[in-house]
Amino acid sequence: MNAIDPTSIDEIRRRAEALGPWFHNIELGGVWTAPNHFLGNYPAVKWQRFADAVPQDLTGKSVLDIGCNGGFYSIEMKKRGASRVLGVDFDDTYLAQARFAAQQTGHDIEFRKLSVYDLGSLGERFDIVLFMGVLYHLRHPLLALDLIHEHVAKDMLVFQSMQRGSAESFPVEENYTFWETEHFDDPRYPKMHFIEHRYADDPTNWWAPNAACVEAMLRSAGFEIVQHPETEVYICRRVDAPHGAGAVYPAKGSTP
Ligand SMILES: C[S@@+](CC[C@H](N)C(=O)[O-])C[C@H]1O[C@@H](n2cnc3c(N)ncnc32)[C@H](O)[C@@H]1O
Repeated sequence: MNAIDPTSIDEIRRRAEALGPWFHNIELGGVWTAPNHFLGNYPAVKWQRFADAVPQDLTGKSVLDIGCNGGFYSIEMKKRGASRVLGVDFDDTYLAQARFAAQQTGHDIEFRKLSVYDLGSLGERFDIVLFMGVLYHLRHPLLALDLIHEHVAKDMLVFQSMQRGSAESFPVEENYTFWETEHFDDPRYPKMHFIEHRYADDPTNWWAPNAACVEAMLRSAGFEIVQHPETEVYICRRVDAPHGAGAVYPAKGSTP
């Protein structure tokens, strides 16, 4: 009986297919994991549009990739020399893909099953946190941002969300009287469309925010936007959360 060569293209293809279907299209020893992706060569096509906004040299840096899926971004961070990359996802199937992809590409990356709502259990902050393509899949998106701020973000947040509606910003006032209502009808006002059933055939798409809403939510959770290199991508710096924000405790001085 012939021994199976784990490095042969046929065996890699067999194992990749057994782990599929894949959302991340990654090249593993000549085998593409999602060659017919509806978004093209995804996420490489997205990454190439903002890769320059992330430091080229991550030597000595720790990275947390939340909702890591098949591990594409975790691998890219490791390629830049990050000393530690932890990818978390709540889906076992995606984690198995990520482990296989890291092993096949020769990268030492830790992948752990963890929900974004349980990030506090890590007890660790990371130099760079990736929160890409997850916000709109959550029933409680602002809670997730608050938890990231409170527990795991040390400095840089790389954020991406699907956006729908106006891409323009709106000069929102600090306050409006009870009788002013027109601004709510302006398409540029921060809005998040609630998806009760499905969008793009995906029942895990719960929200579709516009650009102003994404930006306001980031600010509100204590993330200052320092760069907007791609329509859906924001590079943020962790700052103090504004009054009233916070995942668990009410801000000092707030009414009960
Ligand atoms: C659209 S994919 C984005 C994958 C990758 N971050 C990217 O940008 O290409 C969303 C990922 O978030 C994960 N996810 C959704 N809800 C989650 C949660 N509550 N905790 C952890 N991961 C979650 C899904 O399993 C999936 O892998």
